[in-house]
Parts: sequence; C-alpha cells; structure tokens
Amino acid sequence: MNHAIVYLTKTGHSKKIAEAIAESLSTSALDIKTRPEVGEVDLLFIVGGLYGKRSDPMMLEFVKGLSPKKIKKAVLVTSSAAGDLKQSAVRAELSNRGIAVDSKEFCCKGSFLFFYLGHPNQEEIEKAVAFSKSFLKKE
Ligand SMILES: Cc1cc2nc3c(=O)[nH]c(=O)nc-3n(C[C@H](O)[C@H](O)[C@H](O)COP(=O)(O)O)c2cc1C
Repeated sequence: MNHAIVYLTKTGHSKKIAEAIAESLSTSALDIKTRPEVGEVDLLFIVGGLYGKRSDPMMLEFVKGLSPKKIKKAVLVTSSAAGDLKQSAVRAELSNRGIAVDSKEFCCKGSFLFFYLGHPNQEEIEKAVAFSKSFLKKE
C-alpha cells in the first residue's frame, strides 16, 4: 500500500508533525506551498493548521485539484491552539470531489502567540505518528 503526506503551515507546527509522520513511514513530507504533484496513492495524509477557525485558502485550493482517480482515501491531521478544531472545509471539499475521507481526524494542540507555547509537544507528535501508522496496519 502506498501513501503520501502533504502539509501546509504558517508557523511550522504542521511541518513538524508531517515530517515526523513521514519519517516513521520512510518517506518525505510534501509542502503544499511548492504545489507538489501527488501520484496515485492509497492513503493521503493531509496535515494542516487552522487560522480564525478556517483552513488556509491555499490548502483548499490544493484539495480542489486532487483527483478521486488518484487518491483512494484521505486522512486528516489537524492542529489548532484550541486543540479540538477540525479541517471541516477540507473534509467537505474532499467529499465533494468524491475522495473518501476517514471519519477519524487527529486533532493536535498547537499554540497561538504566547498561548500554549511548546505545543505540539513531543508526546502529541508521537500520538499523531501512532494515529497515522494505524491506517497502514488496517488497509
Ligand atoms: C493567524 C493565526 C490565526 C489563528 N487562529 C486560531 C483560531 O481561530 N483558533 C485556534 O484554536 N487556533 C488558532 N491559531 C493557532 C493555530 O491553529 C495553531 O498554532 C496551529 O498549530 C498552526 O499550525 P501551523 O504552525 O502549521 O501553521 C491561529 C494561528 C495563527 C497564526
């Protein structure tokens, strides 16, 4: 089963999480800002933060460009200072495009200005990695 990990970050948290997931799966994390071409994959991990409770427009633009012919299933890994916000618009867009999205979404605490500094911490990143790896066992 093949997979890819993409991320979009403003302050580095999603990059950190995506790179940890990628390393554990012996691959590289792709930065959406570089407009990566995602090939045919069984699993696409989409790692992103939330800003004003919304996804970055570039994330939504990227998802709009994905083809259901290439992506069998997407999995969302999300960070926010609140720690429980979800990439709802990304999920909706994937569904609109006919791409299956797992119902489970990993929500990770981030930080904002001086609130919750230090998040995501090592333990949270390890949990994100364990969550992501669990999909490879299942599929
Ligand atoms: C401009 C901006 C707006 C944010 N707005 C929110 C918000 O509305 N709610 C929240 O819980 N976190 C908010 N955050 C915190 C981010 O969601 C959190 O730090 C996340 O981990 C950022 O991911 P990133 O480092 O990959 O960009 C905001 C952060 C920034 C920079």
